[in-house]
Amino acid sequence: RPTDPSVFQNWRARYAVQRASPLVCPNQGLANELSILRRARELEGLEKNALAYERAIGMIKSYPHRITRESFKSDISKLPGFGGKTASKVLEYIETGSIPEAQTTLTSERYQSLSLFASIYGIGPTKARQFYDMGMRSIEDLERYYDVAPGATLKTPAELDEFMREMEAEVAFTPNGKRVRREGTVPDITVPVALALRGELDAPIPRDEVEEMRDVVMRELAELQPGCVSTIVGGYRRGKPMSNDADIVISHEDWEKGKTLIPGLCKRLCARLYQKGLVTHVMHLSGFHGYNALRTEHWDSLEKALTVFKLKPIPENPVRIHRRLDLIFALPESYWTAVIGWTGSKMFQRDLRLWAKQEKGMKFDSVALTRRHDTRRFLPKSEKEVFDILGLPWIDPTMRNA
Ligand code: GTP
Ligand code: MN
Ligand code: MN
Repeated sequence: RPTDPSVFQNWRARYAVQRASPLVCPNQGLANELSILRRARELEGLEKNALAYERAIGMIKSYPHRITRESFKSDISKLPGFGGKTASKVLEYIETGSIPEAQTTLTSERYQSLSLFASIYGIGPTKARQFYDMGMRSIEDLERYYDVAPGATLKTPAELDEFMREMEAEVAFTPNGKRVRREGTVPDITVPVALALRGELDAPIPRDEVEEMRDVVMRELAELQPGCVSTIVGGYRRGKPMSNDADIVISHEDWEKGKTLIPGLCKRLCARLYQKGLVTHVMHLSGFHGYNALRTEHWDSLEKALTVFKLKPIPENPVRIHRRLDLIFALPESYWTAVIGWTGSKMFQRDLRLWAKQEKGMKFDSVALTRRHDTRRFLPKSEKEVFDILGLPWIDPTMRNA
């Protein structure tokens, strides 16, 4: 279904969900420079600042012409969020082809260390700043801190178990599906594993390998439970030629049976994939309880596993490397909201929630679409239906790169 033509004209609109945002836009260079400033603010914990940049970048991503001095004056400077500071950065870019502050940022030791630390899965801006304040600067410093041997690669679950014993850590997840990690008392395995495997996890995943991962996962799932359906979401679905991980939303074709067949399936699939050596590590596993604590009405609607996955070698592809794989299980009634929620982009999602709340009196999240005043829940049967209920023109996933 092609994107509603109106959204291409809609670049002035306030919400990212009203605009078309291609993967690569006519002002990509400018968007990239601003992204450095956004990232710097985020790493410094300046959330509001980072969000302001993110919004400005989103507006620029939807602008269909190359920004010149003239079009800046007639169009861009009138957009929401292009007051003082952001405007001056854009002008700098128009005049010189770069933003001086972005270039200085890139060369600063602090930015380099913080972004290096935060590039490790499981390390966020706060932890990155703590490490920096402790005097740490390099990956080697991190390896010493986490006691990970330089260049260590953990190839098999057996080796992982050995490594874990040495660290006196406990595996977050065992094959029988039991979580044994005691948070706060032993180190979380996420960072040490991500650190040891960083050379592999850093490598972008081409589209055909994402598809291969999905096919293997779904073949194994079919053995456990026939009739499951899936959509590859995330950056892949937005058209990225290379992804940092594979994200798959899974449900069941039968609306009624799915209600009882889906709960618990995430753990069972993980255990099977782990036993087969396909999932090598489970970084995070959440079922009903995590979600439940806050919203009883949606309980048991989403389960997710954030894992490390490795395809089996085949003659055409004898060398396989570890990849990040996210599996999200949704009840059939949550499937389309989950697909939309996990397709992203982050900005698109944020504005989808905001649009639903502020313009429609509704609440959107990956689990459900509900009307606020009477908590009536909609049960969309397609992705298009979610857009229709929210009164939004259809935007193809490849135009959701705000
Ligand atoms: P790359 O993986 O870097 O290639 O890009 P990506 O856009 O696929 O990023 P990512 O895999 O991190 O996330 C995919 C989408 O899922 C994003 O739009 C996120 O907003 C969304 N997402 C990620 N984590 C969560 C989560 O815990 N809950 C919900 N509801 N959404 C999430
Ligand atoms: Mn992804
Ligand atoms: Mn992901």
